[in-house]
Amino acid sequence: MTGRRAFRWPSLLTADGRGIAFGGDYNPDQWPDEVVAEDIRLMREARVNTVALAIFSWDRIEPREGEFTFDWLDSVIDRLGRAGIAVDLASATASAPMWLYENHPEVLPVDKYGHVVNAGSRQSWRPTSPVFKRFALRLCRRLAEHYKDNPYVTAWHMGNEYGWNNRYDYSDTALEAFRAWCEAKYGTIDALNEAWGTAFWSQHVNSFQEVMLPRHMGGDSMVNPPQQLDFERFGNDMLLDFYKAERDAIEEICPGKPFTTNFMVSTDQCCMDYAQWAPEVDFVSNDHYFHEGESHLDELACSDALVASLAADHPWYVMEHSTSAVQWKPLNSRKRNGELLRDSLAHVAIGADAINFFQWRQSTSGAEAFHSAMVPHAGADSKVFRGVCELGKALETLSRAGVQGTTLRRRGTAVLFSAESEWATRSETLPSMRLDHWHAVRDWYRALLDAGTRADVVPLAHDWTGYDTVILPNVLALSDEDVRRLDGFARAGGTVAIDYATGIIDERFHAGLGGYPGAGEGLLRGMIGVRGEEFNILGAQAEGEPGEIALSNGMRTRLWQTDVTAVAPDTTVVATYEGDAAEDWELAGTPAVTRHPWGAGEAIYVGCDLDRHDIARLARTLFTKVDGVCVMPATGDADDDADAAETPAAVVPADGDDPRVLHTVRDNEDRTVRFDFYLNRSACPVTLTGVDGETIIAHRCAAPVADAPAAPAHCATVTLARNAILVTRTVR
Ligand code: GLA
Ligand code: GLA
Repeated sequence: MTGRRAFRWPSLLTADGRGIAFGGDYNPDQWPDEVVAEDIRLMREARVNTVALAIFSWDRIEPREGEFTFDWLDSVIDRLGRAGIAVDLASATASAPMWLYENHPEVLPVDKYGHVVNAGSRQSWRPTSPVFKRFALRLCRRLAEHYKDNPYVTAWHMGNEYGWNNRYDYSDTALEAFRAWCEAKYGTIDALNEAWGTAFWSQHVNSFQEVMLPRHMGGDSMVNPPQQLDFERFGNDMLLDFYKAERDAIEEICPGKPFTTNFMVSTDQCCMDYAQWAPEVDFVSNDHYFHEGESHLDELACSDALVASLAADHPWYVMEHSTSAVQWKPLNSRKRNGELLRDSLAHVAIGADAINFFQWRQSTSGAEAFHSAMVPHAGADSKVFRGVCELGKALETLSRAGVQGTTLRRRGTAVLFSAESEWATRSETLPSMRLDHWHAVRDWYRALLDAGTRADVVPLAHDWTGYDTVILPNVLALSDEDVRRLDGFARAGGTVAIDYATGIIDERFHAGLGGYPGAGEGLLRGMIGVRGEEFNILGAQAEGEPGEIALSNGMRTRLWQTDVTAVAPDTTVVATYEGDAAEDWELAGTPAVTRHPWGAGEAIYVGCDLDRHDIARLARTLFTKVDGVCVMPATGDADDDADAAETPAAVVPADGDDPRVLHTVRDNEDRTVRFDFYLNRSACPVTLTGVDGETIIAHRCAAPVADAPAAPAHCATVTLARNAILVTRTVR
């Protein structure tokens, strides 16, 4: 990847500027001024050393059009800084003041039905509005001029979660910008007609002036998929351009300080193509909100694995997560005892050097009053605040031990993620609307954990050729170039695994000819040694039809089977469909899972959907190069803490790959110091034997070592309770 900005990390206000950053979004604009003194006292008690400030404070800074006042912000920054708390200062443009919307309603976005999106929430602005840009950049410049020499402002936090509310804008300004974007991309109208397949449904356009946005077209009518996919790219690009304009406006006046914006990576959203955004920030930061239930830790790890790849081996920043419940789901579970610290340190285990929360003090009014915070409604005398203090202490212990700046050790297997395929899987024109690329990545990631190996999650656009094995779960869209890269990788000895929906279209959303998968003009089919002709889709609507089909290896498929009609002679058929349902669907004996040598490597094809437990079993037999050997035993009752605690602990070696334990390593630059992080994935206790190194953190661990987390001791055997984390340091 070219043109990546240099890595720059915000300093703390410590003597040497170093330390793991700890704090949260600080919104003192919601409170009377006297609360600030109390906040700072509590921040110091909790060892908070950094806050993200003024994210929604535009109305405070510019209360009326053109009238700027910094007194309030100066005073807050000054008090924080003197207390040793560094400020990550926002560009404050995420939410514009009401006067701006009232005076300039032309900045409001328009939804696909043509309705104006009203002000009153956040990001009620068009990314393509020149009027909004003028106001936003003026604010950025005023902030930069005012704070350029402020020693307490150590980083710039641009916007907030770009695209959260204005990802899709169908206004006339967007239309004009989209036409220009299409012209820049395609050059000629013929190229656009070809790419969009406009021969279908009389959609030929004579000039870029006839190009339309994919606005609502009535009833259930389907949007042209290539047009929709380009609209996704366009929305991503407009917001990225907006971010860059804000960043550049500040940087021109205030060079030298690091810039970031908080991404929204978790495995149920993929707002932006962050592989394009990551090179434009000086340090990657992310907002992650936990998933309740048994996927809690796995989901966090999978999401973080992608963030770690976006950060390109540099540390990254948790800009927001929650101490406990959020308030924006239909049902909002709180965190269990120990999860606040465990989740935070799990992020550190996967490369984070900063742990921040939304938000410092829980609001009493507004839309997020029931969202947890570092200081909850109950006040400082509370479980949550004590947990926050415990975390502050643990992060300080990790800082002192030298974790900051160490590098997450890479694995041999990469699961590839593509934002474009994620957008493509949302199309309502595919054989099944139940495809979800990101969830498929998560299923494979978790299955590999269950099989005893942890993979990396890597953007398709990155260079993944250093891995032994790459897995492409439902990477729907592959360009010819992508397929050539896979071909070269396998020929050179790599293992490529694709599944049933991978490569069924190219990057223009065109299906290839000659059989499935069609990407790469036959090259992908050649690699896997398989040709499919149709897709067999199972579903509830086919009344009385078999809803699942068995495989000859005992597995089951419930959604999608590619009707494979030919395999190359050197293909090994690992499993076929069999049994009554397979007979009924005329698939008995049809290859379901195959492997095919390709150059010095191999290509594996999984022609049907499998649940994660079956994927884990398959991974164990198929991938000789992945490190894992065992399969996760059936999970205990995750809701019964008491019973789980009484279950005898499983005993596993610390240096093995056991599915019950999530193990990561962070090394210093010359690999003379390593930190091992062990997290218990299961609801039952796990005893690690042969643990090497000195104990740095032992959270919910019972061991023949001192209880105090900071106590260094050599320990051979440690029992990890549910939600436990053990961190050790080994010096060579
Ligand atoms: C209708 C339309 C056709 C086609 C089919 C698809 O019958 O007239 O053009 O869209 O549906 O099932
Ligand atoms: C996002 C936003 C925050 C807050 C949290 C709540 O991450 O950036 O301002 O709304 O969600 O979970």
